[in-house]
Amino acid sequence: MSYKASFRVWRGDADGGGLQDFTVEVNEGEVVLDIIHRLQATQCSDLAVRWNCKAGKCGSCSAEINGRPRLLCMTRMSVFAEDEVVTVTPMRTFPVIRDLVTDVSYNYTKAREIPAFTPPAGLKPGDYRMKQVDVERSQEFRKCIECFLCQNTCHVIRDHEENKENFAGPRFLMRIAELEMHPLDVADRRHAAQDEHGLGYCNITKCCTEVCPENIHITDNALIPMKERVVDRRYDPVVWLGSKIFRR
Ligand code: SF4
Ligand code: F3S
Ligand code: FES
Repeated sequence: MSYKASFRVWRGDADGGGLQDFTVEVNEGEVVLDIIHRLQATQCSDLAVRWNCKAGKCGSCSAEINGRPRLLCMTRMSVFAEDEVVTVTPMRTFPVIRDLVTDVSYNYTKAREIPAFTPPAGLKPGDYRMKQVDVERSQEFRKCIECFLCQNTCHVIRDHEENKENFAGPRFLMRIAELEMHPLDVADRRHAAQDEHGLGYCNITKCCTEVCPENIHITDNALIPMKERVVDRRYDPVVWLGSKIFRR
């Protein structure tokens, strides 16, 4: 069973662009990425799109479909009515390179700003056994495929370019939470999360969680616990006194 669908695809580059209309064949079982590939094959061979696995695992094909941030390869055409116009635009938070391809280097810059796992000095392999409960706590966060849809969605930077410098975004605040929850990590994560990576900008709107294709509970399991740990640190009189003494 096939039908003709109406597609509107954003085309352009850093200097500007606009939506272009197409009528294109859709077959049973296809996803939006199939249709974009059909457009490349039949109507506009220079249409730029980033993709790799077509299985929801590489995180490359992030875009916005009818205004909602989604993976092109995991969005079935069957979720749209046959007479519905399907509009595909690039992620809005990142600068456009061409057509549906954006420059996501902001995310790699933020990743580099987070100090790596820091075990106690002198710890040798085999010296420590992690408890299963500690393994499980961070395992959920490690399902991240780095699609950056959560980063694209978060209102703190979506319409506020000026916040990008001071805000790591949900994906990387989650990475900080993962390290903070690691029983062996000795780095100062709470202070850094708040003061250097912008945890305080997050007002737990949960939009990041809603768009995560891996269904990671970013807000409930990473950001809110991280905020609680920051508050504990601030209001713990022993920690407060210690920070005053050691700052002198
Ligand atoms: Fe994508 Fe989810 Fe990872 Fe964010 S946390 S980058 S939405 S997989
Ligand atoms: Fe942004 Fe997610 Fe917080 S959308 S405001 S990081 S809960
Ligand atoms: Fe890999 Fe879509 S092509 S996630």
